[in-house]
Amino acid sequence: MPRIVLRLPMRNRAVRPTRPSVRIKAKQSQMGTKVEIKGIETPGLIIRDMVASDARSFARYMLREEYQATIAVRYQTAADVQKFVARCLRRQAALTRSVFHLSAELKASSQVIGDGFIIMNRPKTFEIGWGVHPELWGRGFGTEIGNALMAIAFEKLGATTVWAKSFVNNAASIRLCNRLGMTQDRVSQNHPVAPGFRTDVSFHSISATDYFDAPY
Ligand SMILES: CC(C)(COP(=O)(O)OP(=O)(O)OC[C@H]1O[C@@H](n2cnc3c(N)ncnc32)[C@H](O)[C@@H]1OP(=O)(O)O)[C@@H](O)C(=O)NCCC(=O)NCCS
Repeated sequence: MPRIVLRLPMRNRAVRPTRPSVRIKAKQSQMGTKVEIKGIETPGLIIRDMVASDARSFARYMLREEYQATIAVRYQTAADVQKFVARCLRRQAALTRSVFHLSAELKASSQVIGDGFIIMNRPKTFEIGWGVHPELWGRGFGTEIGNALMAIAFEKLGATTVWAKSFVNNAASIRLCNRLGMTQDRVSQNHPVAPGFRTDVSFHSISATDYFDAPY
């Protein structure tokens, strides 16, 4: 399995990094508005719409046991990951998009080392989520992905609320929510997270007012 090439110094672990600038393309037609995420630059990453070839990079971490320990949807094979990417690409092509699955590539090497999603599940209310290759945990990349997702949701998609859910034992994801300025709304015990799979889940959110009022 190829190793991740990281030609970067250890990440600056500032609690609130610079807000990323968001470049997206919106094509309007009578049928709706097609939104493409062309590339959002954070200190170490480019975050952009998925492409089919990202499936190979995702399979390098999404199939790992330590990665799967804290997520609900667990792919078994590289073919499952490929099908997931194919589903994302179909959603990308939708005229009125409510689901955004994005890839995070290292600026230094163009390798895809993470992913994020934004899902509008109620009007102006977006769920976000994230994943990073386990070999790169703790270097601030999760925070960079989270900041980019919030910037897209609040600054471009008009969100009034952004929220995230994490298994209660997922310390990294909960700390990431705190870093992003989210607050805990509730803990739901024995929460259904996937067919036949229940666990305790922590819900966190941030309002547009708190996002725009925060220092950056
Ligand atoms: C959650 C995840 C994306 C965090 O990525 P990351 O790149 O390590 O995040 P960051 O480096 O920005 O760190 C964010 C916080 O998590 C903490 N953290 C990172 N790895 C940790 C670990 N293994 N255990 C406990 N805390 C950890 C960091 O110290 C930081 O907290 P701090 O502000 O108190 O210092 C990563 O652990 C992951 O991919 N997990 C598997 C997928 C997943 O669980 N996704 C969430 C469900 S949607």
